[in-house]
Amino acid sequence: MIIELPRWLEDLRNTEIVQQVRDDPRSVGGSLLGVSFDVARIEVAGGGQANFDEPWGDLSPDDRVLLYAYCIQKGHLEELTAAFRMLFANNPVNKPIVLDLGCGPCTGGLAIASELGDQPRFDYIGVDKSSAMRRLGERLAVAPTQMSEVRRQWARDISSVSWQQAPGWRPVIVIVSYLLASPTLDATKLIGQLDCLLAKFGRGPVTVLFTNSPQAHTNRSFPEFSGALLEAGFRLCADDTGRIGIGRMSGVRTRPLRYALFHRRLRHTLALGD
Ligand SMILES: C[S@@+](CC[C@H](N)C(=O)[O-])C[C@H]1O[C@@H](n2cnc3c(N)ncnc32)[C@H](O)[C@@H]1O
Repeated sequence: MIIELPRWLEDLRNTEIVQQVRDDPRSVGGSLLGVSFDVARIEVAGGGQANFDEPWGDLSPDDRVLLYAYCIQKGHLEELTAAFRMLFANNPVNKPIVLDLGCGPCTGGLAIASELGDQPRFDYIGVDKSSAMRRLGERLAVAPTQMSEVRRQWARDISSVSWQQAPGWRPVIVIVSYLLASPTLDATKLIGQLDCLLAKFGRGPVTVLFTNSPQAHTNRSFPEFSGALLEAGFRLCADDTGRIGIGRMSGVRTRPLRYALFHRRLRHTLALGD
């Protein structure tokens, strides 16, 4: 499959990210807010693992997440868009609850919106410990008309998500895109908290999509993550590394990734007692 982001998403990136960086008075001589592309990607954004709420030199937390979005987010959008296209081709989904863990600037929300039709309706819950990430996420989510029917909520961790709707049977999609490389992550605790939140949503089917770099050290928490999901009643449907093709016919490049898909079926029976 060769993936190309939809026009509205390219336009959103250009207006809210690319032009914001290029028009900034600090971006002189081809620099990005005063630093080179490599410094922005590796040092300021820490390859995606920075503590984004700390300033870096003269750059503020909001500058840091803007540079993350400029240098790193696009590849993640492309991978997730490709994954959702494949997933929904055989498994259409109606009004899902989308929980994006370590959401960054709404990456999973924008990708899924691009694959759920013209005016998608879903609940989006973006969880990220960085308030600067959540701020940019809201800016990106509020701008396109494509997202106007999407109900949004942002939280710093899973236990702060508030869910007021009665438990029901809606499908849930959990996105875990490049979160596992984080050195601060306790995968077993994360899945325990996730399972509590899923119980508040109800008893609908749950799909967990995991994406990451294929580099071994960034996946060191995967066995623990996967084991905790299996323990919580999930089935592992796919666990592989692969490449997706990106671009237009004029120039296609490929991007390697590690991905996994877990699924827990809709539950009909009530668990009573032990
Ligand atoms: C590499 S970025 C990925 C962002 C987004 N998922 C994407 O694909 O563009 C990792 C994100 O996870 C967040 N993060 C790291 N550890 C976290 C934790 N323990 N709880 C919540 N968010 C965390 C970071 O703030 C950062 O925004």
